[in-house]
Amino acid sequence: MAAEAGGAAGKRRIMCVGLVCLDIISVVKDFPAEDSETRCLSQRWQRGGNASNSCTVLSLLGAPCAFMGSLAPGPAADFIAADFQRRGVDTAHVAWHPRGDVPCACCLVNATSGSRTIVLHDTNLPDLTARHFERVDLSQYKWIHFEARNAVEQSAMLDRVERHNRAAAPGRRVRISVEVEKPREELLPLMGRGHVPLSHRCSSARTWPSTSGTYRPPRPCRDCGDASSQETLVDTLGAGDTFNAAVIFALAEGRTLQDALTFGCQIAGRKCGIQGFDGIV
Ligand code: FRU
Repeated sequence: MAAEAGGAAGKRRIMCVGLVCLDIISVVKDFPAEDSETRCLSQRWQRGGNASNSCTVLSLLGAPCAFMGSLAPGPAADFIAADFQRRGVDTAHVAWHPRGDVPCACCLVNATSGSRTIVLHDTNLPDLTARHFERVDLSQYKWIHFEARNAVEQSAMLDRVERHNRAAAPGRRVRISVEVEKPREELLPLMGRGHVPLSHRCSSARTWPSTSGTYRPPRPCRDCGDASSQETLVDTLGAGDTFNAAVIFALAEGRTLQDALTFGCQIAGRKCGIQGFDGIV
């Protein structure tokens, strides 16, 4: 696939559809025992959620991008909206709900092993619907990435993009990636949809993103040890989202699948060596 040249086509953006949440992160030296009280090394708020994290990485890589997901007004949403703005991520298509809780995760990052342990509350805010998605002018996007969440609505969104692609000139089609991270039965219909299926589980530094579907990853991608052997693992929170973003970025630039996967491993490996996302490029 040829890289998009300048002009109007060059301005098309990458959109990520899925979750944004507030991550309240405590960095600990050792994982605490249940019912114990310990001091952490540091604590921070961070904008999280797979699609939202991928937007962070895309913008750090220099790709104009947009996030689409649900929010409800309040202090958590204020923090999240300000952070999107700081990163230059377009949020014009965020669905604002008058009621509900902005998803929030309490995260323990073990600075010694790099593991991340997440307790997420995301069940009190409606997910994005196909109706919201109808408002998106698809001609503005060269790539739309879906984080699998509500399969029925997201299938309808995918149908819409596919209809658009059938009518569009080859250079104006929207490429689609779908990440199915959680092995939930209701998400299975989304597997194999789109052009680039991404699925990974990265609950520890040793289980690293492995892609599935129409292609198999090269060996280094199957093993975090290889992917990040230069790094000290300190924070793997969002490493899979980083991998996805870097692969999408490289493919959208016209690089080969092999190159894109290698790039994804490099950037994600770098992310594992630092707290947060600043410094991955
Ligand atoms: C990392 C992450 C966190 C969030 C959780 C949601 O991949 O997106 O930012 O707390 O996963 O599942």
